[in-house]
Amino acid sequence: MIIAIDGPAGAGKSTVAKLLAKKLRFLYIDTGAMYRALTLKVLETKTNINNTDRIVELASNSSINLINNSDGSLKILLDGRDVSSDIRQPAITQFVSDVAKIGEVRRIMVELQRKLGQEGDAVLDGRDIGTVVFPNADKKFYIDADFKERVSRRFKESVGLGQKVSFEDVSSDLANRDNIDSNRKVAPLKKADDAIYVDTTSLSIEEVVDKLLKEIQKNDQSPNPNIE
Ligand code: DC
Repeated sequence: MIIAIDGPAGAGKSTVAKLLAKKLRFLYIDTGAMYRALTLKVLETKTNINNTDRIVELASNSSINLINNSDGSLKILLDGRDVSSDIRQPAITQFVSDVAKIGEVRRIMVELQRKLGQEGDAVLDGRDIGTVVFPNADKKFYIDADFKERVSRRFKESVGLGQKVSFEDVSSDLANRDNIDSNRKVAPLKKADDAIYVDTTSLSIEEVVDKLLKEIQKNDQSPNPNIE
């Protein structure tokens, strides 16, 4: 079974997707982390962000792997190195949308994501999962929240990670990413026609997970699908 979760940054996608995958004992595939890992490589190799050919070359010559730990956490490996925390740095967040808008980079990532998803039951979160990566996903969700609420969540998250960022920085970064992610030529962020829209502005994480689980169980034939 494939569950696709799309939506803008800060809507709560990854927290919800991770919890949902844990409850269902499904694989969790954080596709944003893959674009982030490549962005880390772009910055570490001092590649110019406008040098599309070189970035595509880096994408084809990199090994990006996601390891699901038994405690539900996720380890991201770039060429065998654990980059799970490095990819959350503000510099990566600032440039990741520019890397993710390159068509050939997306083709490479989508291929990898499909391969990972086909290994078994999986929850994938991203921007184009229900529209491009798995258009035949068994269940699709589009998770959204008001802009101010999304900024506030991302700000708290960054402070929690010990990052020195201002509310204004987070706000302008989010607006910039929303703009690039939604308006790029290839696979822009948009709700799939058959995705269930969930506004999480005034919902807790548990409430969102609950809502999604109910939707998933609706179509499942077995009386108690896998749930822990
Ligand atoms: O979910 P995130 O913030 O970690 O994603 C980082 C960036 O990667 C996001 O700004 C857009 C891009 N992305 C994408 O284009 N397609 C995906 N499936 C996932 C992420």
